[in-house]
Amino acid sequence: LPAPADTGRVAFPDGFLWGTATAAFQIEGASSEGGRQDSIWDAFCRIPGAVRNGDDGTVACDHYHRYREDVALMKRLNLDTYRFSTSWARIMPDGKTVNAEGLDFYSRLVDELLAADVLPWLTLYHWDLPQALEELGGWPSRDTAYRFADYAVAVHEALGDRVRVWTTLNEPWCSAFLGYTSGAHAPGKKSPELGLAAAHHLMLGHGLAVEALRERDPEASLGITLNFTVSDPVDPSDPADVDAARRDDGMFNRIFLDPILRGAYPQDLLDDVAHLGFADVVRAGDLETISTPIDVLGVNYYNGGAVSARPQQAQGTPEGTAGPDGARETPTDGPVWETGSPNPVPDGIHHHSRGLPTTDMGWEVQPEGLTRLLVRLQQDYTGPRGTALFVTENGAAYPDVVQPDGSVDDQDRLAFIDAHLRALKAAIDAGADVRGYFAWSLMDNFEWALGYSKRFGLVRVDYETQERTVKASGRWYAQVARDNALPARTVDTPGPADK
Ligand code: NOJ
Repeated sequence: LPAPADTGRVAFPDGFLWGTATAAFQIEGASSEGGRQDSIWDAFCRIPGAVRNGDDGTVACDHYHRYREDVALMKRLNLDTYRFSTSWARIMPDGKTVNAEGLDFYSRLVDELLAADVLPWLTLYHWDLPQALEELGGWPSRDTAYRFADYAVAVHEALGDRVRVWTTLNEPWCSAFLGYTSGAHAPGKKSPELGLAAAHHLMLGHGLAVEALRERDPEASLGITLNFTVSDPVDPSDPADVDAARRDDGMFNRIFLDPILRGAYPQDLLDDVAHLGFADVVRAGDLETISTPIDVLGVNYYNGGAVSARPQQAQGTPEGTAGPDGARETPTDGPVWETGSPNPVPDGIHHHSRGLPTTDMGWEVQPEGLTRLLVRLQQDYTGPRGTALFVTENGAAYPDVVQPDGSVDDQDRLAFIDAHLRALKAAIDAGADVRGYFAWSLMDNFEWALGYSKRFGLVRVDYETQERTVKASGRWYAQVARDNALPARTVDTPGPADK
């Protein structure tokens, strides 16, 4: 094992927000209660082989019925804030008509949070498009962007008096390219053109929603959450590897960052996708809407990757294991459903394993990537616009080892979060305006195409009994949140002890 890292006590700036995150489809269950109709994920779960073990969101963590107990858990964890998403299919089951009963659930949740002194941080879209809108063309259809803005206004109408932080989309890269290009996620389409059109219309929907909410509520904090990778060339002295890393960064990070925070697509990316008809998707005025100023940029970071123009020579680890955030999985560990590359222009981009420890997702553990990412965002994107940074997701899946007394001593997850918080603080020290951190996730939940097989929670969920058990990582996080500081500790680089 590598030598222990630097582990002194680390204090965070006053007012730094400590939170956890979840998403509607991953925890709520009650999928046909209260007037809710299918989202694309309900439909996707019914495709044989699409989701591991045939898992679905019918019950999930039963949060729809247990939200009071879950808010009490947040209180026990000393959280300042809780990031959750509203289900469009609950609020507008047919994609256009408001369902008061659906809104009422979130109204009760928000009241419960406020009574517990937990700041509600609301995400409007975490991947669960009403199936009715998919049948009208989904995100590749321009009209969906306008429907999204209508939905944003309807939610704001009901909750705007109590919710002060609004983020539009969670990880549009996943919605666009896992949903419409690789097919690993709902709705399971497999086309480079559809993925690109979806990406543009997701951003258009974001921009239209920000414009509408800003007009209604000038004081609210508005923003978006993106997922990022840190692409490093395998051989920095090889121009082909450097170019592969540029293209990976372009199709993952800059395709969203540049339109939203600089008002233009990067020219190199436009050149790379020119043969896919992308120019016809982008209309005059769109980029102005998309770049409407935002107050907060949510950063989801799990890992980076080493990228080469050449496939990795066999070294025991198959190519594709080290990809970011669900993008690439080991052949034996991925969804049962056969999927392709999420990159619309994948040729000549090969992800290499660096032999770092990996989590149960097969993702390499690379905390220093978070420091570099946050500093880059501050310097190149958010700083010049006065947009604040929040890490809206970071965390790790590891298999839980449940002790005979029912407790879970998840030192691997604890060490992962500890290392990333140290990396975050290093970014603050280097000038990044990072104002909060949300652990993914409050509790174990439905991990999309991998179903319930992967556990990310600070709190364990027993899916038979719905019993919640705070893990060692959760008890530790409660202390960090209370002290606004990481305690000194001796940690090894996180990862399975046998690697
Ligand atoms: C990002 C997504 O926002 C979340 O839904 C997912 O569960 C985590 N990554 C872990 O894969």
